[in-house]
Amino acid sequence: MEKRATILVVDDERGVRQSFNMVLKDDYNVLLAENGDQAFDIFGKNMIDVVLLDILLPDTNGIDLLERLKEFDPAVEIIMVTAVKEIQTAVTAIKLGAYEYVIKPFAVDDVLTIIERALEKRTMVKELTYLRSELKRYQPFEKMVGKDEKIGAVFELISTIADSEGTVLIQGESGTGKELVARAIHNLSPRKDNPFVVINCAAIPATLMESEIFGHSKGAFTGAIRTTMGKLEIANKGTVFFDDVDNLDISMQAKLLRVIQEKEFERVGSTKIIKVEIRFVAATNKDLTDSISKGEFREDLYYRLNVFPIQLPALRERRTDIPLLINHFLDIYSKKSGKTPKRFSKQAMMAAMKHDWPGNVRELQNLAERVSTVAPGPVVRPEDISLLNTGYRQIEGMTLKDAVSAFEKTYISEVLENVGGSRNEAANRLGIHRNTLLSRINELDVKL
Ligand SMILES: Nc1ncnc2c1ncn2[C@@H]1O[C@H](COP(=O)(O)OP(=O)(O)OP(=O)(O)O)[C@@H](O)[C@H]1O
Ligand SMILES: [Mg+2]
Repeated sequence: MEKRATILVVDDERGVRQSFNMVLKDDYNVLLAENGDQAFDIFGKNMIDVVLLDILLPDTNGIDLLERLKEFDPAVEIIMVTAVKEIQTAVTAIKLGAYEYVIKPFAVDDVLTIIERALEKRTMVKELTYLRSELKRYQPFEKMVGKDEKIGAVFELISTIADSEGTVLIQGESGTGKELVARAIHNLSPRKDNPFVVINCAAIPATLMESEIFGHSKGAFTGAIRTTMGKLEIANKGTVFFDDVDNLDISMQAKLLRVIQEKEFERVGSTKIIKVEIRFVAATNKDLTDSISKGEFREDLYYRLNVFPIQLPALRERRTDIPLLINHFLDIYSKKSGKTPKRFSKQAMMAAMKHDWPGNVRELQNLAERVSTVAPGPVVRPEDISLLNTGYRQIEGMTLKDAVSAFEKTYISEVLENVGGSRNEAANRLGIHRNTLLSRINELDVKL
């Protein structure tokens, strides 16, 4: 599974190229170039991890080439190869972003060690970029809870397909655990030490989507001040999760289909082909066959994604899990606050079991968080969880108009919370237009 790193050796002396080739070819893919033009050409057509670059070349000098290569791919690591008398130039190269220099004649072991370190750094930089993006969306809980057979079947499916390379399409209502399942597939797979990268198709505006996925080269469009890696490149050797995949517009759907099939793509504004080795997982809360018949989703992409379908049951279809989940989340939130976990009274639990949970596990989790902080005693009573009455007790004595507004405010904020803040989804649930919702949020000063 581990892909071999590719090393480009640029040197005008045939003997030097051959000896590098001899030393490296057992552990790496080695490509050879004898001048700057050739090097640049090869660089454009292949995914290169490390370049060994001679400082003196017939058609250009190593420094210029270094700058060009770095501009093309900022993540490439370059090791300068130099004679003693050119050490000054080598130092300049380091300042310009070369990883290290080696002085001719050199010991083979030294060069191998430097290459290994350069490769490690490359992986670390990639991971850092990814971790930074991941930190912003910290997922507190990874543990999946459930005893119902419907969810049990899902757990079983996850462990059977985790090892395979096939794409997975996770379908289920909002809040049923689609993202959690995607992460579980990754964590159980041989890719677990490589990145898991989320592309949130509903949250990224269509105009930015292509660059988000594929990256862009410097100057590709106004504001593209430097070459940037896309999510696919960051996810190489790992798993990429296309959340709310139905939100991709038709042209991006075609591009996604191509990447899944060819495992290669170009950054926006660049012709360099980037090869990736990625497991694709996608999720949606829509019925995609319906979207296909409306012409909103490509049928060929659907079949590509749907190699392993996973259907997540709504919480109301597995009511026996409700107490389990409630106690699970109450435990988690009590640990956070250092208090003993609250427990639901019998009546409160019955009410929870009867509730339909349109926002599924997320709605239940939010409720558990709320009662953990606001329910007065250790036992949660039915009145502590009455879902739509949250604001009710404070509105006595108001005019009807103000009371209605107060209720509307609480209700909108509950629904928003239950759908994870998605305005589109909330508007759907409320049966009003998105713009109406936005103006109500504004007028009522709904806290988000
Ligand atoms: N079986 C489960 N056990 C424990 N926690 C769960 C389970 N299912 C879901 N959750 C939790 O519920 C919340 C919602 O799950 P998740 O974000 O995976 O849902 P989703 O289907 O992606 O929802 P949406 O469509 O709204 O994005 C998360 O905090 C997740 O950790
Ligand atoms: Mg989700």
